[in-house]
Amino acid sequence: MLASAPPVSAPDTRGWTVAKAPGAVPLLGHTLALWKNPLGFLASLPAHGDLVELRLGPKRAYLACHPDLVRHVLLSPRKFDKGGVFDKARQLLGNSLSVSRGEEHRRQRRLIQPAFQPAKLAAYTNSVAADTARTIGSWQPGQVLDVSDAMHVLLMRVAARTLFSAGLDDSTTDEARECLRTVSQGIYKRTVAPVGVMEKLPTPGNRRYDESNRRLREIVDEMIKARRGHEGGDEDLLSILLNVEHPQTGERLSEAQILDQVVTFLVAGSETTASTLAFVFHLLGRHPEAERRMQEEIDRVLDGRPAVFDDLQDLPYTKGVITEALRLYPPSWLSMRVAAEDVEIGGHRIAEGTMIMYSSYALHHNAELFPDPERFDPERWLPPRLAEVPRGALVPFGHGAHKCIGDVLALAETTLIVSTIAGGWRLRPVPGTQLRPQPKATLEPGPLPMRCEPRHRKTKDTDG
Ligand code: HEM
Repeated sequence: MLASAPPVSAPDTRGWTVAKAPGAVPLLGHTLALWKNPLGFLASLPAHGDLVELRLGPKRAYLACHPDLVRHVLLSPRKFDKGGVFDKARQLLGNSLSVSRGEEHRRQRRLIQPAFQPAKLAAYTNSVAADTARTIGSWQPGQVLDVSDAMHVLLMRVAARTLFSAGLDDSTTDEARECLRTVSQGIYKRTVAPVGVMEKLPTPGNRRYDESNRRLREIVDEMIKARRGHEGGDEDLLSILLNVEHPQTGERLSEAQILDQVVTFLVAGSETTASTLAFVFHLLGRHPEAERRMQEEIDRVLDGRPAVFDDLQDLPYTKGVITEALRLYPPSWLSMRVAAEDVEIGGHRIAEGTMIMYSSYALHHNAELFPDPERFDPERWLPPRLAEVPRGALVPFGHGAHKCIGDVLALAETTLIVSTIAGGWRLRPVPGTQLRPQPKATLEPGPLPMRCEPRHRKTKDTDG
């Protein structure tokens, strides 16, 4: 109901529409609808109100549907803090940045933020093109590969290099990737499960989860130890974490905290970025005109050489393609906060402890924010149309105090990988393949078989 809402900057002024979501069933409320067709159900809710009340079993929860209300929630972390599913994830990720709250979160963020300054990213990302070139060096003309799978493996390699300046051998890459997958799925299952009994049973699935969690931590720990062994400059994220010091207190991160943070970066940063890449190639495969335009830009700017961080500013159309993929398929499709006290939102009082959700998927598919929302249209992100995008409508990385700390890194990695691959190859859809996005811990593309076609222009060999 965006049209009826005033263009306010103070979201608690009058004029908001607050509605109950239709279709609640006895006892379960909207749990079944959310379970059966989460994306369709969430995307249907903004038509009912700016703030929509849901029943999740006996509990009342809200979805903030208007971008100004979403901003209000995300910009008021003292009123709307992390809780609920994040509390459960804390048991698995330690009290790391993505799950900590309040003053502890602010403290950690201040300590860690310097590691993600754009000025550092040029150094972390300078071997992304080389890792990508090495991966695509084994592709054969006509070969069919599962792009989802290929991007996850590549991202694991890139993440290891960005975090630890370490090359991963193929078997450790595969193992770490498998562990990460099992751990991410396990975290998701455990955070959405209404009761915590199932996860304690000695089922094969739980044993696999425990073993993957243990092994992932072991691999990361080994890499941290190996990295500690040799002096380095600022060329990877870990070196910053090892040396970071609070300006006033001189406080540093403990070994355990570093391990938790690094595992968190892998969990938060790998599947999300890999899925984004897979969605990008799916969309390009279905939109040859956009693909041609993007390739022209890449050829003009790079002229066959590997892309580096400084090239990103010269690839606006490529960035538009990636932004449009993040709009259509935001990996972080649903998140939540919990009211830390009795608060008012949209002129409506809600009680302490109530869950407030925001869904980037629902915002991004709202026709009142994005005309013709199902259409892949990278030009939305180029001037002059860029100016028409309403404030707060695009939130693939969230907003406010908990905004993704890896947003610029993720965009840089994605652009460098897309431009390296698209410089040398076209990925064609295999006839009959249907994209079925799967909303799990992140929005996943599922298997995406695509055929590799070499282009007239090959990327230069970046192995030196
Ligand atoms: C395309 C890739 C990515 C997407 C779409 C994404 C999305 C997000 C979103 C939406 C949030 C906020 C969730 C909320 O509001 O509850 C978030 C938080 C976070 N992300 Fe990302 N992310 C990506 C890549 C990365 C990378 C590469 C890293 C690290 C290397 C990373 C690390 C984190 C961390 C640590 C947080 C928690 C921040 C805090 O609470 O202070 N993410 N991400």
